[in-house]
Amino acid sequence: MATHKLLLLPGDGIGPEVMGEVKCLIGWINAQGIARFETEEGLVGGAAYEASKQSITDSTMSQAKAADAVIFGAVGGSKWDSVPYEARPEAGLLRLRKDLGLFANLRPAVCYPALAEASSLKRQVVEGLDIMIVRELTGGVYFGEPKTITDLGNGQKRAIDTQVYDTYEIERIARVAFDLAKKRRNKVTSMEKRNVMKSGVLWNEVVTQVHNREYKDVQLEHQLADSGGMNLVKSPKQFDVIVTDNLFGDMLSDIAAMLTGSLGMLPSASLGEIDAKTKKRKSLFEPVHGSAPDIAGQGLANPIAMIASFAMALRYSFELGALADKVEAAIAAVLAKGMRTADIKSAGTTAVSTSQMGEAILKELQALYG
Ligand code: IPM
Ligand code: MN
Repeated sequence: MATHKLLLLPGDGIGPEVMGEVKCLIGWINAQGIARFETEEGLVGGAAYEASKQSITDSTMSQAKAADAVIFGAVGGSKWDSVPYEARPEAGLLRLRKDLGLFANLRPAVCYPALAEASSLKRQVVEGLDIMIVRELTGGVYFGEPKTITDLGNGQKRAIDTQVYDTYEIERIARVAFDLAKKRRNKVTSMEKRNVMKSGVLWNEVVTQVHNREYKDVQLEHQLADSGGMNLVKSPKQFDVIVTDNLFGDMLSDIAAMLTGSLGMLPSASLGEIDAKTKKRKSLFEPVHGSAPDIAGQGLANPIAMIASFAMALRYSFELGALADKVEAAIAAVLAKGMRTADIKSAGTTAVSTSQMGEAILKELQALYG
């Protein structure tokens, strides 16, 4: 049996707590002999800053490059508001994405039947929802140069961020979206702002060309990102796969998260190019929720997004799709039984702790393996 090497980066805030539940899951999988994982652990974000005055060290970066997958918790917190910009906690995550070439960010927003009440939208709008947001992750305004604040000398300053996309970046993310759609409901909605932005004009053009050339059998539609956002809350079930740039994807995926009931429910996978020789790809898996410093250390955090992110690792990095299905089924089962953490609690249910939720999911998984 192959040994898979994981680098665990719990990070800040609730990161270590939710990662704790994934560690239990990994321990169980190893003990059962279902797969073999070897784990290393490192520091990232504020935690790394405390130890090294950097948001991630070169040696942790080397470990990340050598690992078969990185499992990431969360970074950030007001404690580090005044650290130098280059060393802010988020910089560690951005470096991982950029240096590992993780251009494709998959954010599935699934509304578990038991949670339709927890959404701020009406049950009929979100029940049965299953959309996949494909966010471009290594380009656009997040990384474009110049990125500066200049003193104009007249009491004014000028801030510049640069939104930039090359053809190849749009082509490869479009392919990821079309390939996923083929395994789902065969529809891709591309979102940009071609009415205002040149990058939107090119985005639209390139996605259309890739479609015409390679994916004629998939349904493609274009929406402006602002009205796309509106449609996400108006009638989200019209969407199957949404493909969009780095910044729009950041915003739209937080909106999509709330459709599912809570930010605590949304997992994500960040994937690189498949290596032609090894057939492997670099990958990082992280919950979409942040570090939630306000509830950190209290056992209140919802570990589902973290556990579901690990399930995505099983599926996308280790060809353990059957195990991933079972982990997801175990999550659905505990929710169906009425188990809720504070963020998804509705009237008449009592909230359980992070570890109670993790243990319950593991117990369901054990039952599925009979
Ligand atoms: C996310 C986060 C990050 C982002 C932050 C932490 C840099 O919000 O993964 O969505 O903006 O991409
Ligand atoms: Mn975000």
